[in-house]
Amino acid sequence: MAGVTDAPFRKIAREFGAGMACTEMISSEALVRNHRESFRLMDLCWDQRPVSVQLMGGDPGVMAEAARMAEAAGADIVDINMGCPVPKVVKTSGGSSLLRDPDRACRVADAVVGAVSVPVTVKIRLGWDFASRNHLEMATRLQATGIQGLAVHGRTRSQRYDPSADWEAIAQVKAAVSIPVAGSGDLRTADDAARRQSESGVDAVMLGRGILGNLWLVRQTVVRLTSGESIPPLSWQEQIGLVRRHCDLVLDYYGPERGPRLLRKFIAWGLRGFRGAARLRTMVQSVTSPIDVTAVLDAALTIDPGPFSLDGEIDDAPASCEAA
Ligand SMILES: Cc1cc2nc3c(=O)[nH]c(=O)nc-3n(C[C@H](O)[C@H](O)[C@H](O)COP(=O)(O)O)c2cc1C
Repeated sequence: MAGVTDAPFRKIAREFGAGMACTEMISSEALVRNHRESFRLMDLCWDQRPVSVQLMGGDPGVMAEAARMAEAAGADIVDINMGCPVPKVVKTSGGSSLLRDPDRACRVADAVVGAVSVPVTVKIRLGWDFASRNHLEMATRLQATGIQGLAVHGRTRSQRYDPSADWEAIAQVKAAVSIPVAGSGDLRTADDAARRQSESGVDAVMLGRGILGNLWLVRQTVVRLTSGESIPPLSWQEQIGLVRRHCDLVLDYYGPERGPRLLRKFIAWGLRGFRGAARLRTMVQSVTSPIDVTAVLDAALTIDPGPFSLDGEIDDAPASCEAA
């Protein structure tokens, strides 16, 4: 997830048992131009194996070159983004615009499969819009290129993130192909994940907005799916402890200048849902140093959090992060 699943975030997700973590979406054009920040997105130094590197672009040659670079950087899987709805991505014929051009989508997949020896996977949506839903055509044609897995976000491009994800359509994809299929959409609790997996028959589930500020959901989901047991949410103190650990990793990774600014949204997400947390938001928005980070988290420990409730608090991701 762009703006979210950086190295520190992936590290915690894997420690909580995630089967695999995926990098943020990386522009193939930027990679082949040796854009420094894009290389950093592909920094896998903290990752446990397997790790997937997600590439975005609509030019088969450029995507093939970027895939070779991802493999050289240590990717165990190269994933192709065919779901990003953001206009600036769509304009470059990458992301979800490939759903409107299945021939090009297959040329891209074909080129990437031919360029690397690691498995290649693709993430799609159900289509560009309702009238042109083509998930089954996309799935079967992409499978024929030699990709080894598909992830399906159960919405069309025009739906962005709003209406409920269509898990019946995800189940149709699962039934139509023989490669592993992962389902994505509206998994906010471990029970959601278990129910959706059993109803649709998918091989894996992908957590999305549900883990913004709630990385513990990874652990809860893994335990629920592997043993059938439910484990409780974190207490307020434990939640602050987890946010603090995330902050320490981010400060370690990005340094004291850049880290605190990057942390604002993660701290805000980590504190939401508890009564009294709203009062800390002003403090969070003015965090500029590691000392400020510590001050917010110390202050958080002094409030009475009340019962946890995300009602009205967890709709769309902030527009600044809406990337795919
Ligand atoms: C902030 C944000 C960033 C995202 N970035 C990516 C991305 O880089 N690549 C991708 O394949 N999907 C990305 N997605 C889509 C999610 O992976 C997921 O498919 C989608 O949010 C649906 O799941 P949900 O309803 O559980 O959030 C992003 C979603 C959000 C909210």
